[in-house]
Amino acid sequence: MRLLVTTTPDPPDALVARARAVAERCASQYVVRRGSVARMCRDTDNDVAYVVRRTREELRAGAVSLHVHPGLFYLKREAGATHPLIRALAPPGGAPVATVVDATLGLAGDALFVATQLAVDVIGVEASPVLGALLEEGLPRMAREAGAWSAGAARVTLRRGDALDVLRTLPDGAVDVVYLDPMFETPLGAQAGFDLLRLFAEDAALSPELLAEAWRVAARRVVLKVAGTATPPGFSAGPGWNRRVRGQAVDYLVLEGELTDPEYEAPTLGDPADARG
Ligand SMILES: C[S@@+](CC[C@H](N)C(=O)[O-])C[C@H]1O[C@@H](n2cnc3c(N)ncnc32)[C@H](O)[C@@H]1O
Repeated sequence: MRLLVTTTPDPPDALVARARAVAERCASQYVVRRGSVARMCRDTDNDVAYVVRRTREELRAGAVSLHVHPGLFYLKREAGATHPLIRALAPPGGAPVATVVDATLGLAGDALFVATQLAVDVIGVEASPVLGALLEEGLPRMAREAGAWSAGAARVTLRRGDALDVLRTLPDGAVDVVYLDPMFETPLGAQAGFDLLRLFAEDAALSPELLAEAWRVAARRVVLKVAGTATPPGFSAGPGWNRRVRGQAVDYLVLEGELTDPEYEAPTLGDPADARG
């Protein structure tokens, strides 16, 4: 995928410096803005443009664009504590959760919701340099917006790089929960722009090494998002997958040392009785 980096027309020096820095980090070409982005892509034989604008940074490919935004925040907020992701991360009746590593940050949709709903600090790790650049601009912008998501955005700290490398820098039990949401092999119904994200996302499947490292760093539990139809990965860590919280299209597999709520004492792995959310 060929990417150029440019700015809005007549950019101040700071925008040019930022675009050059993004281009270097993404091993892409910085192109001085002349005319339409579509035309620049055509003329330079690139497929996608990363545009550094005054108000935000975005990816553009034809009529599709992608930037860091609150996404499904309000929808998730409506479900609140009953949302399956929240029930997986912080089961009712369990000890409070104060810190979460989101090891696969993406555009931070889940992290934003989790940081807001649980009022926790989230360390968000993103391996893709392009998505990392979008997040670097987008998280502080969302924190400044005075939206319902802004306090949550301010609680998400971005770590650019591979999750395995970042987790290796953390001591045993350094955070309460590690959350993993790797790219699915078969995309579920896509939102606009998701295909663009896929072009730049790290798409390696979950590895036993990453799971083991997540388990070492997590004091309470590791949570893995899977497709609702998926069987658990053929490997695990610690006590093995011992909870499955069902959502509508995706489920959350949980690996935890001790079950903290009677609701979850029965083995629920794959149990349709837990089909809420
Ligand atoms: C399905 S998306 C996550 C979406 C995210 N949960 C959200 O709500 O926006 C997976 C993201 O994890 C990133 N990723 C995958 N493997 C990674 C790894 N080993 N280290 C860091 N990031 C990784 C991908 O680049 C992609 O952006």
